[in-house]
Amino acid sequence: MGGRYIIGITGASGSLYGEKVIRRLLTAGCEVHVCITQAGQLVTREELPWSWPDGAAPEAIQAALRDWFGCGGELVFHDIHAVGASIASGSFRTDGMAVVPCSMGTLSAIAHGASHNLLERAADVVLKERRRLVLAVRETPLSTIHLQNMLALSQCGATIMPACPSFYHAPDSLDELADFFAARLLDQFGLSGDDVRRWTGM
Ligand SMILES: Cc1cc2nc3c(=O)[nH]c(=O)nc-3n(C[C@H](O)[C@H](O)[C@H](O)COP(=O)(O)O)c2cc1C
Repeated sequence: MGGRYIIGITGASGSLYGEKVIRRLLTAGCEVHVCITQAGQLVTREELPWSWPDGAAPEAIQAALRDWFGCGGELVFHDIHAVGASIASGSFRTDGMAVVPCSMGTLSAIAHGASHNLLERAADVVLKERRRLVLAVRETPLSTIHLQNMLALSQCGATIMPACPSFYHAPDSLDELADFFAARLLDQFGLSGDDVRRWTGM
């Protein structure tokens, strides 16, 4: 299938969803550009067995991620501060971006065009270029501000896809539960895997 996608991981809970989305994109033969916020690095450390020393160089993080996913150059890691990176420009063509999981902080920044870091800028670019942006938001309960930011972005064409797992496919594990959500997210890019169990009616 192929394609080029940007995956942002923020400091919301649910980094396993991000891991599953990246893995599925790589399996589909896609080029995946990964950017993780500072809070995202903290939370992934709690939730995933990803480990690299504090302050590790971007090259070292990229190597660790390639090792984890068992891939090579098709995974590109970008430092959150590298605002001169390829994905900061609309002239670098991509097939879309997902922020998974997406914190309320990053949601707000994207809704207001803040572009304070590379992830926010990349999302801003995807919106201005009218490419597909999927935000796997996670917080509970939601404040009126959160809801207003989601509405604003939905009106700008982004897909708000709350990281709410479903249970009707009777997952046996957290892994399966997160993977099903990841598969549904990739449906948004037309990249459905053949292994996805789909509802065919009662
Ligand atoms: C363990 C942990 C879990 C968190 N879960 C969430 C969450 O589900 N949703 C959220 O919006 N923020 C959550 N936060 C708070 C964000 O990490 C925090 O607001 C951070 O500033 C977001 O920054 P970022 O958007 O740059 O990643 C969590 C923080 C920690 C430490």
